Order: sequence, then structure tokens, then C-alpha cells
Amino acid sequence: MKKILVTGGAGYIGSHTVVELIEADYTPIIVDNLCNTSIQNIQGIEKIIDKKIKWHNTDCTDKSAMDKVFAEEGRMEGAIHFAAYKAVEESVQNPQKYYDNNMGSLKVLLQCMQENNVKNIIFSSSCTVYGMPDVLPVDENAPFKKAESPYGETKQLCEKMLKEDSCNSVALRYFNPVGSHSTALIGDCSADRPSNLVPIITEVAIGKREKITIFGNDYKTPDGTCIRDYIHVVDLAKSHVKAMEFLINNTGKHAFNVGTGIGVSVLDAIKAFEQTNKLSINYSIGPRRDGDIEQIYANSNLVKEKLGWEAKETLEKAMISAWEWEKLKE
Ligand code: NAD
Ligand code: WQD
Repeated sequence: MKKILVTGGAGYIGSHTVVELIEADYTPIIVDNLCNTSIQNIQGIEKIIDKKIKWHNTDCTDKSAMDKVFAEEGRMEGAIHFAAYKAVEESVQNPQKYYDNNMGSLKVLLQCMQENNVKNIIFSSSCTVYGMPDVLPVDENAPFKKAESPYGETKQLCEKMLKEDSCNSVALRYFNPVGSHSTALIGDCSADRPSNLVPIITEVAIGKREKITIFGNDYKTPDGTCIRDYIHVVDLAKSHVKAMEFLINNTGKHAFNVGTGIGVSVLDAIKAFEQTNKLSINYSIGPRRDGDIEQIYANSNLVKEKLGWEAKETLEKAMISAWEWEKLKE
């Protein structure tokens, strides 16, 4: 029984990863204080796996509470650290909240791991660490540019903290996660109004919003709209299982891009949603959004070579599952 501590395991990416860990015969232990998710995701995990899941309603920045979790759980193979705040705009309004939680939770987790001889950690990083890369597709050797937000800065600083710690680590640099589990029982339960593209598209489709505004169509891209690498969240979840296998068999510090390698424009993403779900999305063209980069997509050769992972799901499947989640979520 390989126990894995999963902080933020009740969140969007964490809940999908917990399901994949169980399917790969690990025993995930969730630590989440539900500050940006819902108990619905825990219940959803339990329905998918058809058994109870162990979870601690604990704040990862609270050292004495985390000490109790480690004492109760005993030997663990490693940790996957999802717990963090993720709203880019809020991080600009209230940077301290982001430094405290995102770096504070990693600091406490690393201390607990060291004290309890847990060596392996997977960290949720982001392609935001690259800013606007000079070379596309971007690979892991690209330099970190000045962060566009305090949120992005926390990802850069957390990767630095990992390098300076004695643990074995994998930083997974996610591109743009989209979609949901095929059962639509788990998904993104963020407290805030969504600001990401696909949840906004689904809100337009269901009538919560009148239309989506495309942030600029005068970029130097084929259709003038920004380009991103949209990765199905189930594929992304599976990369954590591969990364944990890798860490159990290897030491050192590692960072991998987790993307499809395919650049998709905003207009293409809207069209993909419309075609797969046979719906029409009302949109208009607005001004550019501050801080948006023109285009980014992954060179994912390294993750394929070292972890044996590559994206398998299509954008179309992600769009179908995103729509199912919008219709079924509470
Ligand atoms: P999410 O908000 O759905 O999940 C984060 C979870 O952590 C939530 O369940 C929240 O309740 C919990 N949490 C936050 N602070 C906590 C604390 N101090 N103690 C205990 N629990 C705490 O977000 P997500 O989209 O699943 O993102 C997971 C991770 O991936 C985050 O670190 C995020 O920065 C990173 N990431 C997300 C994206 C994205 O677009 N979703 C992209 C790149 C990286
Ligand atoms: C995608 C594209 C927008 C909304 C953010 C974070 C990043 C990472 C993922 C965590 C862009 C366009 C969007 C809208 C639009 N998160 N868009 N109209 O900005 O690539 O990345 O989430 O680590 O750090 O910055 O994702 O989904 O917000 O935008 O035209 O109403 O959709 O301009 O081109 P982004 P996004």
C-alpha cells in the first residue's frame, strides 16, 4: 500500500489525480481545507471509486495541524502539492494572500516531510513561469521571465524553494487544464466567478452570461487571437501518477512541461466547443487583456522521454466533458 499525501486533493486537478492514483493502486490521503472547493468533489471521488476516501480538513499552512496529519498517517511514499490559491487577478489586488498561502503551504509541507523522512514531492507549477517565451514551442530550459503577477511569482519562488531543499522533486509545469472527468462527478468548484476561457464559454452556453468577450484579435497569430495549449484534466492527472513512479525510482530535482504541444487560438477553442456540443456561443471582440501573452504551447519531448507520458485525449472530448460538468454541477 503506497500512501501518497495529496494537498488540495479536493480541488479541480487534485480530485482528478486522486481518482487516477487509486486506479494505479496508490492510497491517496487528501489534505484540503475546502477554501476554494466543495465537499461535492470528495463525494464525487467516492462515487467514482465506489469507496470512502481518507481526507483531513486541514490548512496546510498550519504546522501543528500538519504535524498531526503526518503522525496519524505514518509512512508515506511521497506528497503531491496542489494546495494554493490560483486567481491571477486577485493575486494582483492582494499579493500577500498569495505569498502567505502558496509559499507558506509548501514551506510547512517540506518541513513536515523532512521531519518524517518523506522524500518525494510533486509540485503543481505552471507555464506561467516562462512568461512570453522567445522560442516556441517552449521547452524546460527556457529562462523564467519577470512574473506577470504575484501568482506567477509564487510558482517561480516555489520551484526555487524545491531546488534548495533536500527532497527529490518533480515540478510539473501545467499548460491550460480544461474539461472534467467523463462521469461529470468532479470538476472545478472554485468559489470565484470563473475567469478562464472554457468555464466562461460553458457559462455562456448555459445562459449565466450573455456572451464571451474575446480579448483582442489583433495579435500576430493566424486568426489574430491568442494561442494556448489546452490539456484535458484527465491527461494532466495521469502525468502525476507517472511522475510519482519516476520519483520512487529516481532521485534529484526535475521539471517537466505538461501540455499537448498543440497551439489552439481562442476562436478555434470556441469553434471546437460549438461543433462538439452542437451549440452556438455568442461572442464579441474586445480589447486585449492586460498581462496576456500572445502565444504559448509546450515542447513536451522531455516528459515523454523521462516519464513515458503524453496527452491522449482530444480538445473535443474536453469540450464535451466541460459542458457536462456545467450542466450537472451544483
Ligand atoms: P483548485 O483551487 O481547484 O484546487 C486547489 C485546492 O487547494 C482547493 O481544493 C483548495 O481548497 C485547496 N487549498 C488551497 N489552500 C489550501 C491550504 N492552505 N490548505 C489546504 N487546502 C488548501 O485549483 P486547481 O485548478 O485544481 O489547481 C491546483 C494547483 O495547480 C494549484 O497549485 C494551481 O496553482 C496549479 N495550477 C492550476 C492551473 C489551472 O489553470 N487550473 C494551471 C497551472 C497550475
Ligand atoms: C486563455 C485565453 C485569453 C477569457 C491562466 C493563468 C495561468 C494558468 C492558466 C494557473 C487567453 C482568452 C479568456 C475570456 C478570452 N493558471 N480569453 N476571453 O490566461 O492562458 O492562463 O490560467 O497557473 O497562470 O494566467 O488562461 O483561460 O484565462 O485564457 O478571450 O473571457 O482565452 O485572452 O488568450 P491563461 P485563460
